Amino acid sequence: MRMRNKNRKSTTFRCNAGSRYSFSTIIWSVVGCLVLLHIYALVRHKGGTSGDIQSHYSWHPQFRELEEVEDENFQIPPPRGKRSPRAAKRRPRRSTTIIDEFLDESSQIRHFFFPGQKTAIDPLREGGNNSFYYFPGRIWLDTDGNPIQAHGGGILYDERSRMYYWYGEYKDGPTYHAHKKGPARVDIIGVGCYSSKDLWTWKNEGIVLAAEGTNITHDLHISNVLERPKVIYNEKTGKYVMWMHIDDANYTKASVGVAVSDSPVGPFDYLYSKRPHGFDSRDMTVFKDDDGVAYLVYSSEENSELHIGPLNEEYLDVTDVMSRILVGLHREAPALFKHQGTYYMVTSGCTGWAPNEALAHAAGSILGPWETMGNPCIGGNKIFQHTTFFAQSTFVLPLHGYPGFFIFMADRWNRADLRDSRYVWLPLTVAGAADRPLDYNFGFPLWSRVSIFWHRRWRIPSGWTGMK
Ligand code: GAL
Repeated sequence: MRMRNKNRKSTTFRCNAGSRYSFSTIIWSVVGCLVLLHIYALVRHKGGTSGDIQSHYSWHPQFRELEEVEDENFQIPPPRGKRSPRAAKRRPRRSTTIIDEFLDESSQIRHFFFPGQKTAIDPLREGGNNSFYYFPGRIWLDTDGNPIQAHGGGILYDERSRMYYWYGEYKDGPTYHAHKKGPARVDIIGVGCYSSKDLWTWKNEGIVLAAEGTNITHDLHISNVLERPKVIYNEKTGKYVMWMHIDDANYTKASVGVAVSDSPVGPFDYLYSKRPHGFDSRDMTVFKDDDGVAYLVYSSEENSELHIGPLNEEYLDVTDVMSRILVGLHREAPALFKHQGTYYMVTSGCTGWAPNEALAHAAGSILGPWETMGNPCIGGNKIFQHTTFFAQSTFVLPLHGYPGFFIFMADRWNRADLRDSRYVWLPLTVAGAADRPLDYNFGFPLWSRVSIFWHRRWRIPSGWTGMK
């Protein structure tokens, strides 16, 4: 009762000068402010500040085409092989899923996921119509005419040479199982590096960090695992620093490795491996923020959560700061990027080489809290969307000059023949309101939607300066 009276009393306010403001004036001012904030929030969600809205919608018409939804049709072939009626009665055949077909080497629709050599993209010989076009899933040749070997990779834009460098697992060896139940593997060969000015024509710069052939105790001994290498440049030391997942064939070492070089094309000197912050670390990535602070992100606690923490000034080690994020979500293959002050991340589920559903996450502060916004994949069909287009995230590359536009890089793993795994590059945009916005700002969702659009064939619009 008392409280109520107190509130009632405050319906008129006296300012210092002694003039009186009515309650309704104040309410209307507050409403006015809220309306203005709403308009601001709307503008932010249409693509950022008003300037950015302009740039979003004045993107080349081809950019708008990239947001169109393309469908895919395929049918699961009928089951093969005759079974005796008796056997069929005893154990009815489990219905084949499209993922079984994808993983089955002898599937009749294998060419759909892994088109043959005939359809390979060969930038040096690809004249006319197909110039600069990406064909997700097709074999992609380097300037020597060999399939690009840069799996689980990432791209560094080197300001000094004005070149893009694509680093990844060089897997051009036989696939085998180290143990009956172990995952398919290829011995470590090293980290492949490719350079490009246009993000389409790639020159093989060789193996910039090579496996160790003889010393069996070395982290890089061929019998071990080197995955998901990522390179960042340290302005203070002038060094290129590579971080990677280092493991043994059974994935029990669960560590990160660090290597360093004076040149983007190596050779990189391998420094050491460790369990960051004392925790197991499997799929990982590094992200360099605008202020020059770099972060390591890794799946930990048996892949049940991710950890994120800043690197030291030289980028050669982690610091004591670490934050647990997406706890209990069991995510891996993190690919982190930033747009207008907000951090975004795409992750996969944990199903080894088999594809699964991607999720997009967002955070106002890189150390969290991170919130999950849902599946970013659009187009293809339901199965495409639930399997990240039969691929797994590895990196998200900003396209300079086009805020809100990124290239989503993923691996379509060929479990039976890992060297023949394919690249799925697709346009990714950050725009519009998120499907599952958990955080609100004056009633408006705080995060923009991350969308990855399926295209059988697409290209970066020709006006992009990187192409010149
Ligand atoms: C995946 C992981 C890959 C590789 C694979 C091995 O889950 O993302 O990088 O480690 O498992 O099965």
